[in-house]
Amino acid sequence: MRIVCIGGGPAGLYFALLMKKNHPEHHIRVVERNKPYDTFGWGVVFSDATMEAMKVWDETSAAEIQNAFNHWDDIEVLFKGTRQRTSGHGFVGIGRKKLLNILQKRCEDLGVELIFETDVDADTQYPDADLIIASDGLNSKIRHRYADIFEPDMIVRPNRYIWLGTNKLFDAFTFDFRKTDHGWFQAHIYKFDDKTSTFIIETTEEAYQAHGLDEMSQQDSISFCENLFSEVLEGAPLMTNARHLRGSAWLNFNRLICGKWSHYNGNSHVVLMGDAAHTAHFAIGSGTKLAIDDAIELTNQFNLHGHDKSHIPAALETYEAIRRVDVARIQNAARNAMEWFEVVGRRYADHFEPEQFMYSMLTRSQRISHENLRLRDKNWLQGYENWFAKKSGLPVESNSSTRHVPPMFTPYQLRGVTLANRIVMSPMAMYSATDGLINDFHMVHLGSRALGGAGLIFAEMTCVSPDARITPNCLGLWNEEQRDGWKRLVDFVHQNSDAKVAIQLGHAGRKGATKPAWEGIDQPVDEANGWPLISASAEPYLVNSQKPKPMMRDDMDRVIADFVRATELAASTGADWLELHAAHGYLLSSFLSPLTNQREDEYGGSHVNRARFPLEVFKAIRAVWPQDKPISVRLSCHDWAEGGNTPDDAAIFAQMFKDAGADLIDCSSGQVVKHEKPVYGRLFQTPFSDKIRNEVGIPTIAVGAISEADHANSVISAGRADLCAVARPHLADPAWVLHEAAKIGLTSVPWPKQYYSGKTQYETNLAREAAAAAALK
Ligand SMILES: Cc1cc2nc3c(=O)[nH]c(=O)nc-3n(C[C@H](O)[C@H](O)[C@H](O)COP(=O)(O)OP(=O)(O)OC[C@H]3O[C@@H](n4cnc5c(N)ncnc54)[C@H](O)[C@@H]3O)c2cc1C
Ligand SMILES: Cc1cc2nc3c(=O)[nH]c(=O)nc-3n(C[C@H](O)[C@H](O)[C@H](O)COP(=O)(O)O)c2cc1C
Repeated sequence: MRIVCIGGGPAGLYFALLMKKNHPEHHIRVVERNKPYDTFGWGVVFSDATMEAMKVWDETSAAEIQNAFNHWDDIEVLFKGTRQRTSGHGFVGIGRKKLLNILQKRCEDLGVELIFETDVDADTQYPDADLIIASDGLNSKIRHRYADIFEPDMIVRPNRYIWLGTNKLFDAFTFDFRKTDHGWFQAHIYKFDDKTSTFIIETTEEAYQAHGLDEMSQQDSISFCENLFSEVLEGAPLMTNARHLRGSAWLNFNRLICGKWSHYNGNSHVVLMGDAAHTAHFAIGSGTKLAIDDAIELTNQFNLHGHDKSHIPAALETYEAIRRVDVARIQNAARNAMEWFEVVGRRYADHFEPEQFMYSMLTRSQRISHENLRLRDKNWLQGYENWFAKKSGLPVESNSSTRHVPPMFTPYQLRGVTLANRIVMSPMAMYSATDGLINDFHMVHLGSRALGGAGLIFAEMTCVSPDARITPNCLGLWNEEQRDGWKRLVDFVHQNSDAKVAIQLGHAGRKGATKPAWEGIDQPVDEANGWPLISASAEPYLVNSQKPKPMMRDDMDRVIADFVRATELAASTGADWLELHAAHGYLLSSFLSPLTNQREDEYGGSHVNRARFPLEVFKAIRAVWPQDKPISVRLSCHDWAEGGNTPDDAAIFAQMFKDAGADLIDCSSGQVVKHEKPVYGRLFQTPFSDKIRNEVGIPTIAVGAISEADHANSVISAGRADLCAVARPHLADPAWVLHEAAKIGLTSVPWPKQYYSGKTQYETNLAREAAAAAALK
């Protein structure tokens, strides 16, 4: 085959050398616009896994690269006058120039034709090539040329960064955060050879503009950075090697995804590789790794399909299919890390103490969990757990070397209520009541979960009037008989467990008068069993749902009175906590979402108007609920539908509820409109809790796909929520909390005294299983 690589970065060079090595009969040419052995850039970091793959594919270049590598294990964070360090993070770094020089030399030795100082305009300049690799980087001319085919989706990210170097050597991957009058700047610093360290400085657009960096020359902005980071630089100057960039050399990161990676131009097959096809933010240092992995995979596909031009289409197709999966995974982790750095100033740095800031930074990509940190640096994590336990009010001696309790098992206080731990059993409708009354099912169901260890037990949405119910079988709280049932439950939980009890009050609105979930989710009951529905506007939920009546003032007054009556009844049960259900498309949520609120009066339109009625309800119940007990508000923090509420809107509403006296926001999402398109996944709603807790400054509950102690510990430790609600896992296992404690080896969590012999046996069996698994390794 005749192969031309346009662009001699890591992707083009590595692909050229692998193909030539595998099949020396190929004619391979790399065309590069720069001079030989001349390149822009400082150090790049690699993972151990990529290095292992490189050893398999070309031992010669891998050995040279490995010789030139600088390996380091530690991460050090400088923040608010502190210097914190953890170990076990394993990176390797190499100068970009050194890497390219090794690859260029290896290409030459193998017989790849290297052509320098040639700026290629189009792939059509090489009509006799069978295969053209568009390895011409982020601003690929070849990709631009076929933009309608490759469908590039480029997002310019908001932060500014400048890529500098210094001769000061650092023995850890160092992050330095500095506050200025106009916001935070952070430096990502790592040594890549025995003389030089990479020094990338990043800030927000606002801080960049406010400091006039947009108007400065490169030299002036370097002086500004030297000044700002003088403590860590200790007099060493910063250097640029980007003189070719115009202006101050501060860039925005561009996130690139392409719809298609290859195209036949009539003479040659053209395929994108490396940064021309995709980018991953430097926050997790993966751009070079992805380029190398692309080159390896395409070579692999030719090895599998055959090194003949007739196999090019098949090789390109499987190359793209396989690489897309890995690229999406890395881009996902890179996105989390990148977003962390974009909001770090106002969301974390302004409020967090150094210990928690460090934890948050280490887990920014959300690929490193609590237990993973323990594997990396047990002592550091133990120190952090003890710090957290002490902050939560537990007696921990400073520098205690014994393990205390992990964050999810620390107590939590809100107003006069103290929870024994941070796990909440999330409200779950059971559709098992008659006339809204608690019966034996509810006593056993909720009672056994209370014995199962959760700090707070929520019963299902409890309806404030008969016509507020979702189904005829929902729980209610509008009369004294119902109140008495609740009191029995609350007394049982208080007398037999450490759990506290929360009642979630709600009104189904337009989603009322439906069948129990197992007879058809959201399906209306037969007309004879139903009741008239009310909502913000006259939009039915499903096409076959009843059309609700838009609420008038008298309806509002009646509903407020119903909520107040239910709150007074709830208070007289001795329940510890009240939640106002303003999520999931029910009555209050129908006011908050622009998708369900089309009103033109003072209850529709702006955020203030849409929140007006829910806030009227909230203020009315707050006035009658005991002052020493908290009220939380559950919000749908994302409608997952075009034109609906987003986390930004949820933060605005959270602020309004906070101002009205809410103690906590329970951060759920969706179920507002049927055409929603939620993106599920592990901890998928935790980012909403993180945003609201740390930008609005109100405690939060995170909920949604939190299914192991490791998840809950990661969320609580990083300050992404104060409490974690666990729903479905509690249906599978009433003693979820006790079992999770045992699984992480925490034997100090008390079980009900009647169950103690079960505790010992359970823990012993787990220990045996762990020993057997270890013996097999
Ligand atoms: C601040 C910053 C820090 C980074 N840190 C890391 C890191 O720590 N680790 C990491 O792995 N990655 C890092 N990267 C990303 C990394 O630099 C790229 O992802 C990687 O180099 C991609 O390789 P590539 O071969 O696809 O593209 P490039 O390395 O961009 O190579 C493209 C080549 O094509 C040439 N070229 C372009 N157009 C033409 C043309 N028309 N004709 C001829 N030649 C052309 C260019 O001169 C260049 O040599 C970082 C990037 C930035 C911006
Ligand atoms: C059977 C069932 C019933 C639910 N009923 C309610 C409810 O009454 N009120 C509410 O706010 N959320 C309700 N939810 C949502 C849960 O509280 C929780 O937010 C959701 O299941 C995500 O948590 P998970 O991933 O731990 O299950 C219900 C969920 C389930 C599975």
